[in-house]
Amino acid sequence: KHVAVLMGGLSAERDVSLRSGEACAKALEAEGFKVTRVDVDRRVAETLAILRPDVAFNALHGRFGEDGIMQGILEMLRIPYTHSGVLASALAMRKDRAKDILHAAGVPVAKGLTVDRLIAAKNHVLPPPYVVKPVSEGSSFGVIIVRKDQAHPPQELTRNDWAFGDQVLVESFIGGRELTCAVIGDKAYAVIEILAADGGWYDYDAKYAPGGSIHVLPANLKENIYQNVQELALVAHRALGCRGVSRTDFRFDDSPGGTGELVVLEVNSQPGMTETSLVPEIAAYGGLSFGELVRWMVEDASC
Ligand code: DAL
Ligand code: MG
Repeated sequence: KHVAVLMGGLSAERDVSLRSGEACAKALEAEGFKVTRVDVDRRVAETLAILRPDVAFNALHGRFGEDGIMQGILEMLRIPYTHSGVLASALAMRKDRAKDILHAAGVPVAKGLTVDRLIAAKNHVLPPPYVVKPVSEGSSFGVIIVRKDQAHPPQELTRNDWAFGDQVLVESFIGGRELTCAVIGDKAYAVIEILAADGGWYDYDAKYAPGGSIHVLPANLKENIYQNVQELALVAHRALGCRGVSRTDFRFDDSPGGTGELVVLEVNSQPGMTETSLVPEIAAYGGLSFGELVRWMVEDASC
């Protein structure tokens, strides 16, 4: 089979996608596939129409790649592709819309509201502590944590060079442990607890710098909590209509005096596949090597 690995692209997560794409392309070559690396630009429809691969392996992250737009182009071209379809991709990318659907499906999510970034910069939209997130970004781009004692709302939201869209989601801050679980096919795999190496949170550097975070796999949780995380990851995957691989991120506050709550932060319909990424690690723990994982994704592709 001839596989086109779609990578790079036009979003803020371009560099992450180049790393995901290269890792997947190498693994696919080692599995014996003929691989063409396609750095996605505005001529991608033309490129693919000429190339006519058997499968498009979508290693894009963020805008134009993970949000249903690329998926729409692939549907039109009738090229089978990996990961979720148009609707699920569009929903998963919009954190606020996804939360509405998850909430309706009985999945616990953080309370919050969506506002224009200039409004969030003018007044505290919620009592601190809270988190401000662009409604459709990944890899922690544009995420701002407003601490309990912070007097002013975040001024960086007013910057002229703010590159993460005008709509932001403001959510009450949830303390506690950071967990993640991958769904592959119709099965929830292992749960990882993420500890940021410097005691901070799982921001861009913690995500992609080697040693930027410590992954505890399997997460050290009571069995019922562990299973609950897996169940919720599967419910979330299905509620949004995801296909193939997804990764759902959680917070669990079991600190003394904490709320004891387990909350879904978001579902990633095209989770990172870099050397430091979580999904390949979770798959490997479940007995699926990186090569076997990408091979399965290619076999599972559809349009
Ligand atoms: N948005 C990044 C790639 C992730 O979810 O892993
Ligand atoms: Mg994300």
